[in-house]
Amino acid sequence: MLHTLEQINFRNLKEFSLDFSGGITIICGPNGHGKSNLLEAIHIICQGFSFKTKALQEAINWNAKDFILRTKTAAIQVDSTGVKGKLEGKEFRRANTLFGSAPLVFISPEDIQLAKGTPENKRNFLDELLCFCKKSNLDLLRRYRRVLQQRNRLLKDIADTGTTNEYLFEALTEQLSTLAVMVWQERKAICEILEPHINNFYQTLCNKSEEIKFTYARALTKEDFLNVLKEKFNAERASGTTLAGPHRDDIELLISGHSMRDFGSQGQCRSIALSMKFAAAEIIENHTGTKPILLLDDVFAELDTSRREAVAKIVKQKDLQTFAATPSAADLPFQGDALIPSSVFH
Ligand SMILES: Nc1ncnc2c1ncn2[C@@H]1O[C@H](COP(=O)(O)OP(=O)(O)O)[C@@H](O)[C@H]1O
Ligand SMILES: [Mg+2]
Repeated sequence: MLHTLEQINFRNLKEFSLDFSGGITIICGPNGHGKSNLLEAIHIICQGFSFKTKALQEAINWNAKDFILRTKTAAIQVDSTGVKGKLEGKEFRRANTLFGSAPLVFISPEDIQLAKGTPENKRNFLDELLCFCKKSNLDLLRRYRRVLQQRNRLLKDIADTGTTNEYLFEALTEQLSTLAVMVWQERKAICEILEPHINNFYQTLCNKSEEIKFTYARALTKEDFLNVLKEKFNAERASGTTLAGPHRDDIELLISGHSMRDFGSQGQCRSIALSMKFAAAEIIENHTGTKPILLLDDVFAELDTSRREAVAKIVKQKDLQTFAATPSAADLPFQGDALIPSSVFH
């Protein structure tokens, strides 16, 4: 749970120090007020990264040199030279040290991309969940990315000059395939865990029994993967990049047997996305024993009354510390326990 949040020079927010006592905190105000900025600040101090930008420096107020976020257990200061922080008394220089320090689930209208968007949206969703559930997955995914980059660099060499260090290339291909199989095992397992949770939430939201399939079909053995890479070698050599592996996979999302991306209505896609996020929250709680914080950014305006009510029911039932941003309190299907004071905003 988030007990306190102090902030200086974060985007357009005024310096503040807030206390929270759990329950639902409402963030209400017109567009451009800074509601998402406040959620972003919570996201960064709990997760070490932003849902808006890769460069944390962007969040420094335009008239300031740095921003500071602080909770009871963590602090981070970001300026143009980099990041400094402390987590439970230990200093760090990389924001990703904060990842998982207070697990949270961020829900926004953008989540519709989980149903409609690119495979990357779904992969990122799975990978984030994998890292919450098992810390060693952070390291596994990092190692996979590093080996992939190195292999791509050699392929680029081949594309540019016709040659490369063949011995190193073989070694990297071998390492890549070992790590790929491990990533596949993890992703396949988490999809199997997710599927029934997604179906439960979807039924609660839509009050209909349409079967949702969320399957990671593409998990190869090491031997098969090496064969695929062999077959693709000419194409890889021409393009200078690795053309198969967990970084290219799609995850099948079907509703009553049909592809969600191609046939899902807006309403179905929104409900699926919400179900996936609530399923993630449930799995995080089951795996870590910690209740995640829930950030809801403007999610109600787009839902019809029955879905709003269903979300309210889930939020109450799950009893998570929740921050809900909305331009109009009338859109919210629940009463808050607290309201962010308007003095936080300009
Ligand atoms: N680094 C920054 N410094 C100062 N203001 C910023 C910065 N980044 C964004 N803003 C301002 O924040 C506002 C958007 O805030 P946002 O939280 O997205 O509003 P909303 O209440 O609609 O969610 C915009 O007016 C933008 O100009
Ligand atoms: Mg907003």
